[in-house]
Amino acid sequence: MNKKIYLIVLLAIIITTLGETVSLISGEHGFYSNQTMQDKCTKCHGDVKVQLSTSVQHSTKSCTFCHAKSATNHTNTVPDCQDCHANLKLNDTLEAHAGFVQLGSEGCIACHTTYNAIVNYSRAEYIEYDITDSNGNWSVSNFTTTGTLNLSYNANRTGGNHNWKNVSCQDCHQDIFDAVSRGGHAVVIDINGNGTQQAPYHNNTNSPLEAWCRTCHNRSDTKFSTQHAARRTTCDECHQAYGVQVHPGDFINTGIKSVPYLYRSLVCIACKSTGWQSPNPKIHFRVHEEPYFDVVVTQ
Ligand code: HEC
Ligand code: HEC
Ligand code: HEC
Ligand code: HEC
Ligand code: HEC
Ligand code: HEC
Ligand code: HEC
Repeated sequence: MNKKIYLIVLLAIIITTLGETVSLISGEHGFYSNQTMQDKCTKCHGDVKVQLSTSVQHSTKSCTFCHAKSATNHTNTVPDCQDCHANLKLNDTLEAHAGFVQLGSEGCIACHTTYNAIVNYSRAEYIEYDITDSNGNWSVSNFTTTGTLNLSYNANRTGGNHNWKNVSCQDCHQDIFDAVSRGGHAVVIDINGNGTQQAPYHNNTNSPLEAWCRTCHNRSDTKFSTQHAARRTTCDECHQAYGVQVHPGDFINTGIKSVPYLYRSLVCIACKSTGWQSPNPKIHFRVHEEPYFDVVVTQ
């Protein structure tokens, strides 16, 4: 479907702070005797201790809370996040990030910590199609995609995999935030406005932008199943669920459905951003894909 996305979670370069290295040749084995288990770990893993202590989550936990001592070796085991956090809805069919499941703990870390993540996207550059009105019924035809856009976004985080924090959509989706500031992505112009006003329900000027993202990509919208991080959606799917149908010719139930899932919302948005023109009898659209910035309409 002309969309390829892959994620690279940068593997850590672990640098144990040399200044804190234990003297292993101190002659006696009493070196640790007056220290707690935590102190022992952080003698060598001081960097991890620093990350943990500034975390939003887990900051009060000890190393051994997660790293149980192995029964057979002298080492401490590495846990999976899912050992303690099971049954998350990350593989729900409507979850936008189901692709992260296969990454295991690395996927969790990409969203939940200050470890760096690089998101690479490739998408079609343009979509083109005609909308035709035949006796009040609108249909989409001649749908094509042209060109390829290669996008890469680097979250530019310099922390570590033990520094848990609250999830930020913007860390990875900067391109969408940029598109929104240029009037793209899902900025919905009101049919009753003068071409500048946003539809009240979707207005993004009152709330922090990230809260606005989560109105449409709401993981716990009771009209749908529950997701872990964010819901993938289309304008028509949600409007059907909420019974908001303002289109002539049953466009929302039939016409729009012939467009591939990923591009449907662009068809809706392109029309709204060009002033809600009616096909009379036909309009040709050429729309730049995400990060979206222009729509060209010809009769
Ligand atoms: C004497 C120094 C030292 C002490 C003390 C120490 N470690 Fe380590 N630890 C290391 C070194 C060296 C490695 C290997 C580093 C690497 O692979 O990057 C390591 C690796 C690990 C790993 C990764 C194991 C793996 O399979 O990848 C974990 C988890 C770990 N340590 C936890 C702990 C915990 C928990 C404590 C305290 C109970 C502790 N360490 C105490 C030096 C130490
Ligand atoms: C809330 C659970 C949790 C706590 C608390 C925790 N760790 Fe970890 N640790 C993990 C997980 C999960 C991984 C595997 C990371 C991955 O897959 O990249 C890990 C990996 C490691 C590693 C392997 C190298 C690396 O960074 O990936 C070391 C070393 C380590 N931890 C040391 C520590 C030390 C020392 C402490 C205490 C200061 C600590 N951890 C506290 C969950 C925890
Ligand atoms: C050994 C068990 C254990 C492991 C392993 C573990 N956690 Fe946790 N986690 C907890 C507990 C217990 C809490 C409850 C809050 C607290 O006391 O910090 C928690 C809290 C959280 C929270 C906040 C939950 C909330 O309701 O706000 C997040 C997010 C989280 N963990 C993510 C992770 C991620 C990501 C990993 C893997 C890198 C991980 N955890 C590994 C036990 C664990
Ligand atoms: C695409 C990003 C993303 C990925 C991947 C991800 N999470 Fe989350 N996680 C979130 C968001 C968003 C929330 C809701 C809380 C918030 O908004 O900060 C959340 C919430 C949580 C919570 C709090 C309990 C809850 O359900 O609200 C835990 C625990 C948690 N995640 C653990 C994990 C673990 C473990 C993994 C890996 C299996 C994981 N997460 C993968 C984004 C993600
Ligand atoms: C760690 C980086 C990361 C974070 C944080 C993140 N995402 Fe994503 N997101 C991705 C990647 C990578 C994809 C593509 C996943 C795929 O196709 O498997 C994606 C896909 C999506 C999609 C499109 C799904 C589709 O197929 O139509 C939506 C919508 C989305 N994210 C919303 C959000 C929202 C809302 C948040 C904040 C709660 C968020 N993301 C946080 C990396 C991230
Ligand atoms: C979370 C579900 C949801 C999603 C996703 C969604 N909408 Fe909405 N939309 C609504 C609801 C609910 C209303 C409010 C209806 C009301 O005020 O009675 C609304 C209102 C509107 C209105 C104003 C309608 C009117 O009668 O004044 C327009 C236009 C609109 N949406 C277009 C869109 C477009 C275009 C998209 C896709 C980019 C979209 N919506 C995505 C739920 C959604
Ligand atoms: C008015 C509803 C609405 C709002 C608000 C909204 N989106 Fe979307 N978003 C959609 C729809 C509809 C799609 C198309 C989904 C599809 O076709 O898979 C989409 C698609 C996406 C995609 C996938 C794009 C692609 O081509 O791969 C990402 C990522 C995304 N949104 C993130 C965000 C972020 C981040 C925000 C906040 C800055 C946000 N969205 C706000 C409705 C919305």
